[in-house]
Amino acid sequence: MEPKMRRGARLVLSPLPFQGHITPMLQLASILHSKGFSITIIHTQFNSPNSSNYPDFTFIPIPDGLSEIISSISDPVTFLSLLNVNCVIPFRDCLVRLLSETSSNDGTETETIPCLISDAMMHFTQGVADSLKLPRLVLRTGSIESFLTFAAIPVLKQKGYFLPRSDSELEMPVTELPPLKVKDLPTLNTKDPEAFYQLQGTIVNQAKVSSGLIYNTFDDLEQSGLATLGQQFPIPIFTIGPFHKLFSASSSSLLTQDRSCISWLDTQAPKSVIYVSFGSIVSMDETEFVEMAWGLANSKCPFLWVVRSGLVKGSEQVEPLWPDGFLEMINGKGCIVKWAPQQEVLAHPAVGGFWTHNGWNSTLESICEGVPMLCRPSFGDQMVNARYVSHVWKVGLRLENCKLERGEIERSIRILMVEKEGEEMREIVASLKGKAEVCIRNGGSSYQSLEDLIARILSF
Ligand code: UDX
Repeated sequence: MEPKMRRGARLVLSPLPFQGHITPMLQLASILHSKGFSITIIHTQFNSPNSSNYPDFTFIPIPDGLSEIISSISDPVTFLSLLNVNCVIPFRDCLVRLLSETSSNDGTETETIPCLISDAMMHFTQGVADSLKLPRLVLRTGSIESFLTFAAIPVLKQKGYFLPRSDSELEMPVTELPPLKVKDLPTLNTKDPEAFYQLQGTIVNQAKVSSGLIYNTFDDLEQSGLATLGQQFPIPIFTIGPFHKLFSASSSSLLTQDRSCISWLDTQAPKSVIYVSFGSIVSMDETEFVEMAWGLANSKCPFLWVVRSGLVKGSEQVEPLWPDGFLEMINGKGCIVKWAPQQEVLAHPAVGGFWTHNGWNSTLESICEGVPMLCRPSFGDQMVNARYVSHVWKVGLRLENCKLERGEIERSIRILMVEKEGEEMREIVASLKGKAEVCIRNGGSSYQSLEDLIARILSF
């Protein structure tokens, strides 16, 4: 039986306006909606989600003052810091209005707003929620292990880990966080690394004083990280993933997915295709792009490659960049699209490997479809995810060189796709896929954690 209050409760959720964050927040909203809650999404005008795909939700845009100046902000830390300043007043005004609209005044049954659920990186929302005496639950869209690494930045900084390093020093272990190497520690392409560390510190501290942390992960995958997190963060923690097994990511896509690649996959042999995508933000220089193209072609494995606008730095159109002879060489062997229905692609029987940047959504989607990975992380949490994929879960191998080089790419693709090592990874990832399926079923760890989350929300 549905708890009495649930039908009268409206949850307010607020995502960070990037694909890798919007998707899990809207999936979480869909999960909670399926449990009887009404949903309001407060979002920035910049990268606003496609509300027409969610007719049951209320979407409220707030002015962020960013859309007008976004093209002049090249530094991601500047962007995130501005976002956390510019949104305070419009977000607060919006929340105040919602709270006043839903408060009961004549004894008739009205909706209550038990709490706010916001992305960890929208750290300003903690102060706003506190000022309105509204509990805030935090959605951390990355892995637990990467969050622990962000939380360790102050200690690691004190120990000198973030000082400039030689190539050999980058290969040294981080003894406090095995099996990470120095090169796996979070970085961002910023002019002001100090501001990046401070921003991460604020995100972690504001999460620590929240009313609970929600993760898109599952216990069998991050058991030891979960135990450590529980010691460091004495607040309720809810591991209710994988979200995409409950609600697909497609409806939250900011770009149009080109479905023609599915018919192409239909013509390919089982587990023969390597799917290649670096998510929504990663970019590379032209030289690396050319190395990537030749590495793929020389591997002789069929591939499906997502080449989205902006993948190559400073070039919105990739067509002129194809190296001479490349398109002729891959004729029939390669399918190239601007954006793919990724979840469907990973679930397709023809796909046998995923060359990824290890954004957390991609990593989890790959694990849950039983697809081993070739890892090429770029920034932020991706290096930690990649290290766990290759060295802890052993469901992928990592391109260790900083620069992409066609020979290493060709060899690695063949290890993943045709050699025994790749087959072993495929077996391990198939078993993790099975565990992910069990955990969301009645009685599984994520199922139970979702029940706990609902109880927590109803207790506010
Ligand atoms: C960002 C950060 O880069 C990442 O490190 C962090 O963990 C989350 O935020 P992004 O780079 O976009 O995310 O990567 P990822 O987390 O993998 O999310 C990409 C999403 O886009 C996935 O859900 C994926 O299914 C979807 N996608 C990707 C498509 O639908 N089509 C594509 O062609 C590529």
